Amino acid sequence: MTDNVEQRRDLRRGDDQFLAIITHELRQPLTPILAAVELLRRHVSPEADTRAENVIERQVKQLARLIEDLLDLERMAQGRMRLRKQRIEIGKVIADAVESVRWTADAHGVRLIVECGPDHLFLVADPDRLQQVLSNLLLNAMEHTPREGTISITVGVCERGVEITVQDTGAGIVPEMLDEVFTLFTQSSDGDVRGLGIGLAVVRSLVELHGGTVMARSAGRNQGSAFIVTLPTTAEAA
Ligand SMILES: Nc1ncnc2c1ncn2[C@@H]1O[C@H](COP(=O)(O)OP(=O)(O)O)[C@@H](O)[C@H]1O
Ligand SMILES: [Mg+2]
Repeated sequence: MTDNVEQRRDLRRGDDQFLAIITHELRQPLTPILAAVELLRRHVSPEADTRAENVIERQVKQLARLIEDLLDLERMAQGRMRLRKQRIEIGKVIADAVESVRWTADAHGVRLIVECGPDHLFLVADPDRLQQVLSNLLLNAMEHTPREGTISITVGVCERGVEITVQDTGAGIVPEMLDEVFTLFTQSSDGDVRGLGIGLAVVRSLVELHGGTVMARSAGRNQGSAFIVTLPTTAEAA
């Protein structure tokens, strides 16, 4: 297993910025939610009601995701993250992850391609956490890929186990940021992309807790990106 101390240090590095950023992010969705409630109360039109409901749903989901990420960070910083490992079929986890982001892909106007590779590829892992890793990578890909773009998720067998690749045709990553993106609170400078810079730090910690690795590849700006997760297939029984 990878060095826990190093992991914890990584997660704590941003402590001083922490409160400022968190407070800002937690407060951000409240204004649109309150405005939407106000609109609902006035029943302007059925369309306006639907719009308001959508705003509330989207903002609450974002808040929920943020809070889940924060809870995970806390667990990992304390070394309290527990995996519920079991024997799982990787294709099933991928299908679930894709399903969970399908709606967002449609909303973003991007095409989602799934290539599950060989059938009945099993490994011992925590299915919920693995799905979290994959949906995180898929959502990131969507955020950084313009409409009409394509996101693919492929699985293959490699020397060390199973290799899952999430590839997009979007904004790309400059070479000096390829490893940096996994550091807590690292964010791109493009103004319109919102987030906290927690997602990939959580992804890396979760993958490493599984004894795996994750890395980013990109030919540069606007050249698309690929995130490659490698997970060991162990002899360990479920
Ligand atoms: N698919 C991608 N294409 C381009 N850049 C990406 C992609 N995924 C992540 N990044 C970069 O990595 C940074 C960190 O990602 P993440 O940890 O998920 O934080 P957040 O999504 O909150 O910004 C992003 O702000 C972005 O700059
Ligand atoms: Mg993200």
